[in-house]
Order: sequence, then structure tokens, then C-alpha cells
Amino acid sequence: MKTLRQSVSPFLKWAGGKRQLLPEIYPRIPIIKGRYIEPFMGAAAVFFSVAPKISWLNDINDELVNCFCVVRDEVDELLKRLSNYYYDKDFYYEIRKLDRQEGGLLKIDPTERAARFIFLNRTGFNGLYRVNSKGHFNVPFGRYKNPEIANSGRLKACHDMLQNSKITQFHFRDVLSQVKQDDFVYLDPPYQPVSPTSNFTNYDKIGFGRDEQSELAEFLHYFNKKNISFLASNASHPLIYELYQGLSITEITARRSINSKSEGRVSIPEVLISNM
Ligand SMILES: C[S@@+](CC[C@H](N)C(=O)[O-])C[C@H]1O[C@@H](n2cnc3c(N)ncnc32)[C@H](O)[C@@H]1O
Repeated sequence: MKTLRQSVSPFLKWAGGKRQLLPEIYPRIPIIKGRYIEPFMGAAAVFFSVAPKISWLNDINDELVNCFCVVRDEVDELLKRLSNYYYDKDFYYEIRKLDRQEGGLLKIDPTERAARFIFLNRTGFNGLYRVNSKGHFNVPFGRYKNPEIANSGRLKACHDMLQNSKITQFHFRDVLSQVKQDDFVYLDPPYQPVSPTSNFTNYDKIGFGRDEQSELAEFLHYFNKKNISFLASNASHPLIYELYQGLSITEITARRSINSKSEGRVSIPEVLISNM
């Protein structure tokens, strides 16, 4: 038993989300003496499953980070705002284009931005998050039978779980350079693409390439030397084996949607890298 708190389901869908891999990941999480740290939180499926007492969640995606902060701090107002959203194609595109107005999303208050983010996540194609080079959200409307936009029970459970969480929007290096001895770090970066058509690494306009994978690996070798526990996910790719030589690498299989077509759902080997 790692925690006295009950796991909850994440309130967002997220590409590369770790829900289906939890049975592989959860047993590998140690008892945590210090902080639980996730520098690439996405929907934070592992965090919500581990339910740590003290945590630091981070992601480079500003809208995602704003949404998590609002769920932590303003869940009742958020639920009120969400009650004004409904599943309709024209309404979806009205809401989607708010980031194209002059002044962009900063013209909207943080709670409304969070409601917009959840609405787009629940009703956009496959729950994807994708922006163009101007930073404009460009995921098309998603076809669902009767999508649930706001699940108040789940949002409130997530709100409770986030009460002792620090939530930031930094580059991962600014989180990893502040990790201390008793902390545990779970890292789920954008994956090294396994083929030219599977390069879904543009969660954000900044991108994540070989340099970032190498910089990340250097941190993890440093943690290994310092006996700081970590677990990292990545694609089963020769570059990853090369970068993490000397650490424990376990191959696991995940069913993933690797491109925008549903027939792109295949079982892909992934790896878990750790020093435990
Ligand atoms: C594979 S997803 C994480 C999925 C998450 N574990 C889940 O279960 O939903 C990777 C995340 O890394 C974030 N990211 C990309 N580049 C980053 C960077 N340089 N620093 C911090 N976060 C970054 C993306 O915004 C994205 O949310």
C-alpha cells in the first residue's frame, strides 16, 4: 500500500495517456518519502492513480496547466461555467476560434479558459490537443453519441486530490534541476517516434526532438548516480536503448492510436526505464 488515499480517474483524455498501462506502471512505483514529481503531466493519469500526499505536477502546455490550477482552486465556479457548454458542431467551432481573436485567450478569465479547454477535450476529435504554428487550436469537431462534458463527481475528486499539488508550466529541465534526494520522479515525455508516420510529438508548438531526449537522459543518469528514484516511459526505439544504456529497461506493450485514423490503433512495444 503506497498511500491511504483512493485513486481517481483523470478528468481529461490525453494522447499518450497512461491509463491502459497503469497495471504495468503502478506496481513499479516505490513508497515515496518526499515529493511525487511529474514534469510531463498531460492528463496525469499516473498521479491520479498513485494518489501521493505531496506532489509537483508540471507541463509546458499553458492551457493544460491553467486548467489543472482551476480544477484545484475553483472547481465549483468551473462546474457552473461548464453547465453553459453543450455538444454541437457550430458551437464547438465558435468556442474553438476564441484563441484567434485579438488578444487571444488572455482576454478570457482563467476559469472560462479552463471550461473551454475541458469542453474542447471532451468534444474534439479523439480528445487530441494540437495547435498550429501560430498556437491556434486546430483539432476538428469529434463525433460522439452523447459525450459527457462535465462529470462533477470526477472533477471534485480530482480537485480534492490536487490540494497538496504544486502545478507549474516550466521546461522539464527547470523541474528536474530542483529534484531532491527523497523525491520520486515519474517521467512520461513525448516519445521518440518509432516511424516517420508516428511522430505525434507536437503536443505544443515547441516540439520534442533528439536534443530533448538526450538532455532528459542525462538527468536520469545523474539521478541514478545520486540514488534518486525514477521511472520513465518511452518508445522502444534504438535511440532510447542507446541513451539509457546502464539503466534497467523493461519492454511492455500498449495499444495505441498512432495516427488520426482509427485503423491506426495497434499494439506497440514501449519501455519503462528505471533505477530501482
Ligand atoms: C506523453 S504526454 C504525457 C501523458 C501523461 N502521462 C498522461 O497520462 O496523460 C507528454 C507531455 O509532455 C509535455 N511536454 C512536451 N514538451 C515538454 C517540455 N519541454 N517540458 C515539459 N513538458 C513538455 C506535453 O505538453 C505533454 O502533455
